Parts: sequence; structure tokens; C-alpha cells
Amino acid sequence: MAKIREKGRAEGVRVKCQSGTLALYSDPISLTHFKETRIVSKLVEPHGGNGLKALLAPQTERAEELERAGTLTQVPMTSREVSDVLMMAMGAYTPIDGFMSEADWRGSCLDMKLENGLFWPMPITLSCDRELADRIHVEEEVALVDGESGEILAIMEVTEKYAPDKALECEHVYRTTDTAHPGVQKVMEQGEINLAGRVVCLSEGEYPEKYPDLYLRPAEARAIFLENGWSRVAAFQTRNPMQRAHEHLVKIAIEVTDGVFIHQVLGKLKPGDIPAEVRTRAIQAMIDNYFVPGTVVQAGYPIEMRYAGPREALLHALIRQNFGCSHLIVGRDHAGVGDYYGPFDAHHIFETLWDGALDTRPLKIDITFFCNKCFGMATGKTCPHGEEERIHISGTQQRAMLAEGAPVPREFGRPEVIEILREYYAGLS
Ligand code: ADX
Repeated sequence: MAKIREKGRAEGVRVKCQSGTLALYSDPISLTHFKETRIVSKLVEPHGGNGLKALLAPQTERAEELERAGTLTQVPMTSREVSDVLMMAMGAYTPIDGFMSEADWRGSCLDMKLENGLFWPMPITLSCDRELADRIHVEEEVALVDGESGEILAIMEVTEKYAPDKALECEHVYRTTDTAHPGVQKVMEQGEINLAGRVVCLSEGEYPEKYPDLYLRPAEARAIFLENGWSRVAAFQTRNPMQRAHEHLVKIAIEVTDGVFIHQVLGKLKPGDIPAEVRTRAIQAMIDNYFVPGTVVQAGYPIEMRYAGPREALLHALIRQNFGCSHLIVGRDHAGVGDYYGPFDAHHIFETLWDGALDTRPLKIDITFFCNKCFGMATGKTCPHGEEERIHISGTQQRAMLAEGAPVPREFGRPEVIEILREYYAGLS
């Protein structure tokens, strides 16, 4: 397949979807299910400026490499580590080429920089217990295995072993060492030793088959944006079904960009969060009933939430740069949990970045709600009325209403969406 590259521009292909669906490619890298014509992309360049780096081995090499991997020392991965490998496979973590060395781990925790100076706001690491680490020597190749399913996902050549200071990591990345924080808890439960090295991915796990219409790799997302003629694209990161506040955020972004990429988390969530299967249907109901066709693209990606608030907002922006998005919508308490972060910490952290750290910009939006007096959706910036006029419903309140069969105000949620959620909660009880 001929790809194009013009000085200073990202490479791209114009694509036409033959099947009518988004993500049914046999070969994610070459987009073989698409027809192409040559055009130049005006989308933001992938992070690092040297094109996308998807670590999935070519299809033709995978079977042989998997057989070889079966003979290597097996390193079991947690669900978070699995999600990181899948992110590397698709190119979402461009340009890193594996799990971080001690210098990169320390740099990303303390200064949001890799050893080579490139912006990177969170550590991407692989851990194991001391006993297993002792059996692995530097320069050895190991097989990285999904600790839950037992599937071999990658081969890694180990270049370094080190014991990270977990408290230091949590203090800087999560701003707390409280193990009640779900992200901190995962770090504290990790093995004692981190293994670093270059990764070659051999599988994308169950995602491509499980979510055939949603699982979209960065190269594919870029191709769709190009096909749509979009260059200013805002990403909307979500782990929730879309209520009216979310709808309002996305519509604000549609007004000032070419289109919005509604991009949801398909990886593991914390207990109580709505599962991806239900959420994707609820989001589709919102899009089908309340959006102008052609203004949004819905997709999902295999990240596991860390709930690191502001630091995670930066990682979300970096990832969206790789997907070709010029903007990331950052609303209230983005990627936060409990009361660990202030509602606008994730806005402020973008102001601490140095020039050239990141091309993707935040689209910062204030707290969004329905105001009885304005008689419409508004934000703290556009509505002059008091709290008593504003309808905010927390996730917990919504869950209670749905579980009890109580009506959910139309000012809060669209009926087509509420219907799907009500069915889900009824099944639970
Ligand atoms: S998460 O990744 O940030 O955890 P979530 O689904 O909760 O996902 O929120 C998606 C996006 O909507 C985030 O940018 C969040 O800040 C924003 N958001 C959610 N609710 C509101 C609201 N009422 N006002 C402003 N922004 C909101």
C-alpha cells in the first residue's frame, strides 16, 4: 500500500469503507479492507513526530512467534498491564517501544518526561514478584501472558530489572498514597520488581472480535477523519453512558471543530461503573436520537482507567494526539475518583506543560447542568443563576433512581438512554 508523506505533515490514506462498518480489518496496519487515494493529512502528528509506532507483529509472523513464546519464561500480567500491551499493539502509546526502564519510570513520575526528554505524564510499567525476577536474566526474552485468560500476548526482551519506590510513584502521579484510591491500590498490589524492555505484540486479545464496530486503531481513526475531511477533531473521553451534561459538552465541541471522536474506555473499570456493553448501547441511543449524522464518530479503546485525575487527563490527551485529535474535551474532575482532585485540577495541569510537550490541546469546559431559569443546558460560565435552579444528579443518585424504578428527570437524561440503563439496573436487582 502506498502511503504518503510530505515534509512536516503526518502520513495518511484516504479510505472508503467497503463493509459499511468501522473496524473489520484483517490487517490493522495496512488497512487492507479500504480503498485508498492519495491525500495529505492535516491531522496532528503522532506524539514524538516520527509517525505511528504500532507494536503488533505482522500477521505473517505471529503464529511462529507465538510458538516460540510458548518455550520462554512466562510472566503473568495484571489486567492493567494487559491493557498497556494492547495500547502498545495498536500504536496508541506511540512512540514508546515497551515497558519503561528505571530512568523513564522516574522521569515520568517526577518530571513528566522520559529519559530522552520527551513528554510522558505517567509510568507504563510491568511488574513481577522477586522470585520470578530472580529467575530472569537481563537480555533474556520472556513471554508476557494475560494473568486471567492465560493467553500469550507479547514477547519482551528484558533490558533491566529494578525495584520502584511505589510510594514516590503514587505521591507524584496520584497525589495520594491512600490505598482506598483504586489506582493507588493497584500500584501497591503490584509485584516488587519492574521488568523493562522492548515489546513485540502477538495478539490484540478478545477486543477486535468482541467489539467489531467499536475497536478502532489510531491509523484507522486517522483514516476515517481524513475521509470525513476533518482536521480539527475533538476527542470526548468517557467511561459512562452519555447524559445531557455529556451531550452538551460534545455539542459545544462540535460547534468549534470539524467533528467529535466519542472515545470510550473498553478496559477494566472499578466496581459500580456501568459495563462497556451497556454503555455503548446507551451512547449509540444518544447519537442516533440527538446528534446530526456525520458530526461524531463513536469508538472504544482498551485502556484500563487509573483514576489519576490531572495526570491521566494528560495521558488521555497524548493518546488522542496519536489518534489524530487536535483537542481533548476536559470537563469537571476528568478521570477523577472520590474527592482526591479538585474539579478543575485537570484543566490547570495543562498550563504547567512546556512548549512543544504536546500538540493536542485541552478544550476546557466548566461544570455543565440544566438550569430551570435559563430553561436549558448551561455551564458555570454561561448561567448567572444560583445552585437552587440547577439540576445536577450524581452517579450514585442516578443509580438509586434507576434501581428503584423512580423517574429520572428529562432535564438530566434522555429517555432513550434512561430506558437502556433502567433495563440494566432491573437485571442487577
Ligand atoms: S472520565 O474519563 O473523566 O472518568 P466521565 O465519563 O466521568 O469519564 O467523564 C467524561 C468527560 O465529561 C470528562 O472530561 C469529564 O470531565 C466530563 N464531565 C462529566 N460530567 C460533567 C459535568 N457535569 N460538567 C462538566 N464536565 C463533565
